[in-house]
Amino acid sequence: MRIRAVLSVSYVVCGLLMAGAAAAQDIGNGESISRQWCANCHQVDRSSPRGSDAVPSFPAIARMPSTTEMSLAAFLSSSHGRMPDYSLTRQEIRDVSAYIVSLRDPPATGR
Ligand code: HEC
Repeated sequence: MRIRAVLSVSYVVCGLLMAGAAAAQDIGNGESISRQWCANCHQVDRSSPRGSDAVPSFPAIARMPSTTEMSLAAFLSSSHGRMPDYSLTRQEIRDVSAYIVSLRDPPATGR
């Protein structure tokens, strides 16, 4: 009986944690936004060929020591001279930032 109670409490806690993570950011959604809006200029994943030398690839951005979800969100919240302003929502910015940071792991292969 006690074990059951402990188990059901941990199910609830797990569910809450997962719901919290989903609300905070959705890496899968960040990936699809990246493919839709960023892939014209950026290499947005580890496998596709390099886009252009002038534009940093997302894996390269992820490897920069200065890159965090916060720094990406700040970068993506303002418009940039050479980068079009997509007016992504705050949620989309969080998703894309989480996706880019997720490319850091597993660690770089030396590219
Ligand atoms: C029209 C081409 C173009 C598109 C589309 C584009 N970018 Fe960029 N992006 C660039 C260029 C060029 C740079 C490097 C020069 C600069 O920082 O402005 C850059 C730089 C960046 C950087 C900063 C890297 C650093 O050095 O700190 C990030 C992060 C970034 N882009 C994310 C994105 C995301 C996310 C999208 C899609 C929502 C996107 N970009 C779409 C051209 C583009």
